[in-house]
Amino acid sequence: MTTTTPRDFVSRTDLMRQIKDEILNLTGSPLCAERIRNKVFPVIGEGSHEAKIMFVGEAPGKNEAATGRPFCGASGRVLDELLASIELPRTEVYVTNIVKDRPTANRDPLPEEIVIYGPFLDRQIDIIQPKVIATLGRFSMSYVMNRYGLSHELGQISNLHGRVFTTATSFGSMKVVPLFHPAVAIYNIHTKEVLMEDFKKLKKLSA
Ligand code: URA
Repeated sequence: MTTTTPRDFVSRTDLMRQIKDEILNLTGSPLCAERIRNKVFPVIGEGSHEAKIMFVGEAPGKNEAATGRPFCGASGRVLDELLASIELPRTEVYVTNIVKDRPTANRDPLPEEIVIYGPFLDRQIDIIQPKVIATLGRFSMSYVMNRYGLSHELGQISNLHGRVFTTATSFGSMKVVPLFHPAVAIYNIHTKEVLMEDFKKLKKLSA
């Protein structure tokens, strides 16, 4: 006889919805208070809950907070171009950030904000169980590598981008690939070329 646990009855979508509800009702985050004051949205994440590849950025910007969608502004257009360059539909990946509410005036996320929102990202990773996490920018690189026992490998993103790190998780082996943040490529053609090359590695890992 097969046994079932309550976990079996909760779909990935339900678990994601729980996260969304918790973030909507979050207290103790100044960013959440600001979001309510400004009548904008938290950005939970978007894409396939069965994705093999998960992209983790830093925090929502103005467009993202206005729509509740990750990477939908200028950086998002670069991300879309990079995905198109390897013929990977955005609907097949999952895109999210560490921090789910927009930091004031697009500043870098503060360590205390990463402490508040990081556990939500951890849960999203456990729900999706990706084969590959591609980090976008140095904040998500540090967060994910520290979280998955790769702290000893940490260094400058200029040295680590495009490298593939393998780690063990509760749901099996997972690869972490640090990438430059697409925002850097908006005005820097060289970074865009580097990102294009690094995305080719992602293509191989997603095959
Ligand atoms: N930059 C990020 O890190 N995330 C977004 O969603 C948008 C811009």
